[in-house]
Amino acid sequence: MATTAEPRTSKLDDLQKLVALCKRRGFVFASAEIYGGFANTYDYGPLGALLKNNVRDAWIRTNIQRRDDVDLIDAAIITAPRVWEASGHVKEFTDPLVQCLGECKNRYRADQITATKCPNCGGALSEPRMFNTMFRTQVGPLDDADNMAYLRPETAQGMFVNFANVATTMRRKLPFGIAQVGKAFRNEITPGNFVFRTLEFEAMEVEYFVEPGTDEEWFEHWVAAREHWYHELGIRPENLRRYEHPPEKLSHYSKRTIDIEYRFPFGDGWGELEGIANRSKGPDNTSWDLYQHEQASGQRLTLFDETKKQHIRPGVVEPALGLTRATLTFLIDAYDEQVLDAEKNDVRTVLHLHPALAPYKVCVLPLFRKPDLIRVARSLYEDLRRRWMITYDSGSNIGKLYRRQDEIGTPFCITVDFQSLDDEKVTIRERDSMDQSQFGRVPIAELRGWLDAHLDY
Ligand code: GAP
Repeated sequence: MATTAEPRTSKLDDLQKLVALCKRRGFVFASAEIYGGFANTYDYGPLGALLKNNVRDAWIRTNIQRRDDVDLIDAAIITAPRVWEASGHVKEFTDPLVQCLGECKNRYRADQITATKCPNCGGALSEPRMFNTMFRTQVGPLDDADNMAYLRPETAQGMFVNFANVATTMRRKLPFGIAQVGKAFRNEITPGNFVFRTLEFEAMEVEYFVEPGTDEEWFEHWVAAREHWYHELGIRPENLRRYEHPPEKLSHYSKRTIDIEYRFPFGDGWGELEGIANRSKGPDNTSWDLYQHEQASGQRLTLFDETKKQHIRPGVVEPALGLTRATLTFLIDAYDEQVLDAEKNDVRTVLHLHPALAPYKVCVLPLFRKPDLIRVARSLYEDLRRRWMITYDSGSNIGKLYRRQDEIGTPFCITVDFQSLDDEKVTIRERDSMDQSQFGRVPIAELRGWLDAHLDY
């Protein structure tokens, strides 16, 4: 990363400030807002859609493009019930639900509250009842049990059921991984905190298949690799920590799970950002899910080891995060309010997003609204946008234009001034330092190379 990061002067202390910025600047809108909204569902606006795509692309670049051993797939969302019966989700993907029997009738997850009375109105609470959080739907016109299907609550099963397809078509040997990014759905009892926990979200997961007995080593590898990804993309290390699940809290498929937690500005602070699970809880430390699908489908889900002349069911390690939760985390960590002049109450809101994540990489600006400057600026904009997602703005107050870009995280503003008409050079203003002179005047002819170097990720 090439920007000169200045120390940040504040941290987001109130999520509502970010919610307001997201609405004001077109990152995230409440869904069906014109009808009063639809609880806990959100729409990503023009800048949010770009940011989320960039987070996804950065994940794909690190976990697929830059590795020799991971293939990306895109499996179906509406899934046959047999998949979820075999994987254990029909039986196990449940949360304990309690409901207030008093006035408010609020619902809570029994494992998330310590109170014996309703925390809202003090009413008595019902006995906990296990609630399966998978969404069901009906396939075809008949609404009966034979036509019921599930919307996937995780992308993982699409990778397990395609294990043999991928291994064969890609001629894979162990270790190798299958990755997926896509929508997942959970009928959460307690959604909330903006897009932190929603009913519909996007997941990014790798199932990394390994020689049986090497799962613990690979587990360590993936925890470190995933932490590195967040650091590389600018998340402050002090806002991340590891949380090891105690044995009694492990999911039904997991031998060991470590969450990478982030210090969120709500609740108790620390919350799950990503979970890395060792899903090798099947016989002899092999994949629990492959074993279950073998039993249920009667198909062999193994690789043939030429040396040992035997079929081997691998172990598996799974790093799993929410694309939408990661996008929220990058926004929170990037958010900053800098007091530039306390007397004048001049506070700059800036998103210190890594250039790879920023919705726009550059804003091209004519210094004044004069035809000659606009002509050069527009032609520069037309050229650069063939290569990068950039924007253009013009107005009488350049300071205000810079601030507008700061608030959406644009790392560089390229300004065309009168001198540009003579020397064919421009100035580049950097977002974090607000410096306009550190790069000198950059020849327009060299801008593509300059940006290549400064936007490289
Ligand atoms: N395949 C394993 C799995 O799904 P998980 O811990 O239940 O594991 C993985 O989910 C990640 O997905 C979480 O760490 C979180 O980032 C994200 N996630 C889970 N439920 C979510 C929800 N309701 N809304 C937004 N993100 C969610």
